[in-house]
Amino acid sequence: MATVLSVSGSPSATSRTARLLRHLDARLERHGHEVIPLDVRTLPATALLGADFAHPAIVRATALFARVDGVVIGTPIYKAAYSGLLKSLLDLLPQYALEGKTVLPLATGGTTAHVLAIDYALRPVLNSMGAGHIVQGWFTLDKDLQTGPDGALTIAPGSAEALAQVVDRFSLALGGTPLLAAAG
Ligand SMILES: Cc1cc2nc3c(=O)[nH]c(=O)nc-3n(C[C@H](O)[C@H](O)[C@H](O)COP(=O)(O)O)c2cc1C
Repeated sequence: MATVLSVSGSPSATSRTARLLRHLDARLERHGHEVIPLDVRTLPATALLGADFAHPAIVRATALFARVDGVVIGTPIYKAAYSGLLKSLLDLLPQYALEGKTVLPLATGGTTAHVLAIDYALRPVLNSMGAGHIVQGWFTLDKDLQTGPDGALTIAPGSAEALAQVVDRFSLALGGTPLLAAAG
């Protein structure tokens, strides 16, 4: 099966976006894919803000992008676009770091007014980086993502169903096989 890099671009320590990605990573693993999680907030700020292309952590992150078949890009919507943190990493990657990759763009946000931010803001950046196939993305309202005291994520049923569908389509685009209904 494929190898997938699952990138969260939220600067928040209690990020809903990151929790959502880790939840969806498990579904991709059930499809048989190997998933490598990457939270951009764990990379050194001095390297991200100082455009330190040669920093070992940036070199390692760049190598991860190079070795995978697919990339999940998750971002909170800030000021009607993707996060600055996410952009700070994308700016340090080679121009065509997504060449030949299958990409699933995901966003979380507070208002449906910005539901198209994936298409007008994020998708052009992914295209400019050479993404081979950008599958249908999904915007999830933050109120649909609740975290329990144990940190477990609960997704509102309508959103959970839509997210499962986009992940399954992404998996198929990567050459994965459908999940058995019982394993849904
Ligand atoms: C600084 C800031 C700006 C935001 N701007 C928007 C916005 O323009 N549109 C929107 O839908 N949500 C906006 N939100 C809400 C977040 O996108 C939303 O709560 C998201 O789920 C946060 O994800 P996170 O917990 O992974 O950081 C903003 C939140 C913050 C903190």
